[in-house]
Amino acid sequence: MAIRLRPNVAAMAGYVPGEQPRGKGVIKLNANENPYPPSPKVLAAIRRATDGGLRFYPEATSDGLRAAASRVYGVGADHIIAGNGSDELLTMLMRCFVGEGDRVAYPMPTYSLYDILVDIQGGVRAPVEYGPDFAIPKSLAKQRAALTFLCNPNAPSGTLVQTADIARLARAVRGVLVVDEAYIDFAAARDCSSIGLIRRLPNVVVLRTFSKSFSLAGMRIGLAFASRPIIDGMMKVKDSYNLNRLSAEAATAALRDLPWMRRNVRRIQEQRAVLTRALREMGFEVYDSHTNFVLARHPGTDVRAIQQALKRRRILIRHFDVPGLDDCLRFTVGTPAETTALITALHRLL
Ligand SMILES: Cc1ncc(COP(=O)(O)O)c(C=O)c1O
Repeated sequence: MAIRLRPNVAAMAGYVPGEQPRGKGVIKLNANENPYPPSPKVLAAIRRATDGGLRFYPEATSDGLRAAASRVYGVGADHIIAGNGSDELLTMLMRCFVGEGDRVAYPMPTYSLYDILVDIQGGVRAPVEYGPDFAIPKSLAKQRAALTFLCNPNAPSGTLVQTADIARLARAVRGVLVVDEAYIDFAAARDCSSIGLIRRLPNVVVLRTFSKSFSLAGMRIGLAFASRPIIDGMMKVKDSYNLNRLSAEAATAALRDLPWMRRNVRRIQEQRAVLTRALREMGFEVYDSHTNFVLARHPGTDVRAIQQALKRRRILIRHFDVPGLDDCLRFTVGTPAETTALITALHRLL
C-alpha cells in the first residue's frame, strides 16, 4: 500500500532543532536555554511527585498550576490554559483558528516554528518584513489573517515593542492576535507584558514558557492567557492529558519561587551586557537585546565559517541560513565563564 501523506505535509521540510550535544566540555549557546539550574524547590517538588502516584493520569486541565499562575499573574484561572511547552499552545491555536487556505500573518524574521505550523495546517503564510528598527510593520494589521503572531521580545532579533503599539495592533487586526512572550522575563523593564490586555481585548492571546527564565526546557511547560471563548476553544482541541504530573508540579513550584528565577535573570542580563559590549568592540553590529540571547551581524564576514570553527572548539552557537540573517550569528547568553570562553575564542577567529 502506498503511504500518501497530505500533500502539504509531504511537501514540508520539517522542523530541524538545534544540535543537542551536552556533557563535559561543550558550551551550548545555540538553543536559548538557561545556563543555571531550576530552583532547588522545583527539584524537590519533582522528587516528591516521583512515587507510585505516577500510575494515575495527571489532572486533565492542570488546575493546580492554573491556580498558582492566577495568583502570580493576577488573571482568573479560567483565563489560563497550560500546555506541553508553548509550542503545544501554538499548535492548539492553529487547530482552533486556522483551516485550509486561512491566512496567518507575522512579521519576519521571527520564530521559525510559525511557518511550519501554518504549513501543517494547510494555511497560507502571510509574512511581513520588519524594517531596520524592528517596529511593528504598518501592513501587519492589513493581512486579513485568521491569526496574527507577534513574538515580543522577538526571536531572533531580541527587540521589544511597546504594549500600547500591541493594543493598537489588536484593535486593527481582523482575527486573533497571539503575543508570544517566551523571553519577556529578560526584558529590561518590568511592566512590558501584554497579559493585562486580555481584560479589555478579547482577541488577544499571550503565551509564556517555563523553558527560558525558569530553566525548565526539559519539562515542557507553557501557559496561555486569553478571554474565555479562546481558552474554552483551546481546552476542546488539546490532548486529553497534555501536561504530565511531574511537569505540572515543577511549574507550580517554580511559580512559588520567583526570587530564584529573578536572580538568574539578573545574572543573565549582566552577561548580556558584557557580551554585547565585547561583540561591538570586535566589529559586530549588535541589536539591543531584551532576551537571553544576542543577535550580531558582521557584514562582509563569512559568519558561517565562524560558527563552524567555534563548533570545532566545542562552543555551539546558531547561524540561520536564511535571506536577511545569513550574515548574523545568535549567541545564547551563558554563565560568566562561558561568556569569557566565547569571547576569547571569537578574538582568535576574527
Ligand atoms: C519565540 C519562542 N516561542 C516559543 C518557544 C517554545 O518554547 P517551549 O519550550 O515552551 O515550547 C521558543 C523556543 O525556543 C521560542 O523561541
